[in-house]
Amino acid sequence: MTDLHCHILPAIDDGAMDEKEAIALLKEEAKQGVTQIVFTPHFNDSISVDDFITLRQNSLKRLNEAIENKKNEEFSFRTKLGAEVHYSENLKNIDLAQLCFTGTCYLLLELPFEKEPSDLEEMIEYIVSLGIIPILAHVERYSYLIDNPRKLKKLIKLGALSQANLGAIWRNDDLTLKIVKLINMKLIHVVATDAHSKVKRPVNFLWGLHVLSQHIKPQKIKKLQENADKIFNNIDIRI
Ligand SMILES: [Fe+2]
Repeated sequence: MTDLHCHILPAIDDGAMDEKEAIALLKEEAKQGVTQIVFTPHFNDSISVDDFITLRQNSLKRLNEAIENKKNEEFSFRTKLGAEVHYSENLKNIDLAQLCFTGTCYLLLELPFEKEPSDLEEMIEYIVSLGIIPILAHVERYSYLIDNPRKLKKLIKLGALSQANLGAIWRNDDLTLKIVKLINMKLIHVVATDAHSKVKRPVNFLWGLHVLSQHIKPQKIKKLQENADKIFNNIDIRI
């Protein structure tokens, strides 16, 4: 399985605070059957892309050194670097290609939670015009999209994809049903952990998929996983 959204890189954002916590999260990913991971620390335009990339590289180096010291056999992941890019009008002045998942045209995009940006459609069109496919991170968090499939469909038609958090599914409540509805409408394409720590948003693949299996057919769950694998391998799943 592939986890396309997590905050496991140590001491770079509000995710894993150090190498120890990062390794604990990686162990959990391995235990739950994840074999491919994209590290997606938060990026916002308060720092330059170059500075972000330096910080991200340093964090990865710290993690790799810690893993090396542990000589831990459990880690046989394929990994890529990415970012969870916070929406801003300023994105047009940024080299977004550098923030895509390594070697792919996929960009994880976080939108404002409460209020839809007035130029959202225009921004999606702009990003797609660059040859980049924006993946809307945890789409269930945006009130203006989760309750408005028509609006979400419009963004998908413009070339975006969308991702839901497994942590929003496992409670098996109204939100789960809204996510299920959007998966069935092909308006959610992948699920991911958005793991931050063992307590705050843990790795929850197994339980999340278990809850999903109570609502949707096995082939649809398989499709969600295949989509994540394809995105990792830079295959266009929009067709
Ligand atoms: Fe996130």
